[in-house]
Amino acid sequence: MTTTQRGLFLTLEGVDGAGKSTHVQWLVDQLSARRVQVVCTREPGGTELAEKLRTLLLHEDMTLECETLLMFAARAEHIHAVIEPALCAGQWVVCDRFTDATFAYQGGGRELGVERIATLEHWVHPNLQPDCTWLFDVPLAIARERLNRTRDQDRFEKEADAFFERTRGVYLARAEQQPQRIQRIDATQSIEQIREHLGRQLDQLIEHRRIV
Ligand code: TMP
Repeated sequence: MTTTQRGLFLTLEGVDGAGKSTHVQWLVDQLSARRVQVVCTREPGGTELAEKLRTLLLHEDMTLECETLLMFAARAEHIHAVIEPALCAGQWVVCDRFTDATFAYQGGGRELGVERIATLEHWVHPNLQPDCTWLFDVPLAIARERLNRTRDQDRFEKEADAFFERTRGVYLARAEQQPQRIQRIDATQSIEQIREHLGRQLDQLIEHRRIV
């Protein structure tokens, strides 16, 4: 009997306006073209219930505790219904944001700190981490300029510059602490330059999977 090789879990992160979403579908298309079965999803969201929680999270005023717990509530559903089943079936998962976003936004932006988020992480997904995370990074002025073009901004997009500076600071610190998992992408580069880099990385990931 052959056992199915577990899929890889790939995530994209960055402050609002860093430009990561431009690359999500492209990554999925590249993987499909390389004959990798892939599921594309996002957080908060990814299931019917978690998408309802997303609407609340992006548009309703709430306490920081409620916001953080709802992020993990949505995540618990998402992992259970989408991420784990796909990985176990050998599919790769490309996810627009995951728990790094909670450390950065709630932990850094909203100044909750690391400890309680680490506790929730340990509760909700003690044995699951992304295999590779791309952190799209731009100076705040550029992110802000892109954000200002967005109409109907959500609760996060409306935050002040200091919030995004703290959020970005936590992302960058995590990339330094976990260089084997989190890769910083200079998102001031052109879309073509970024895709060339991402494409090479996908080839390396696929090659590595073939060997192990
Ligand atoms: P998106 O615009 O990239 O889809 O993400 C929605 C917003 O949710 C974005 O402003 C970041 C925020 N967010 C958090 O604050 N904490 C989290 O854990 C996640 C996943 C997203």
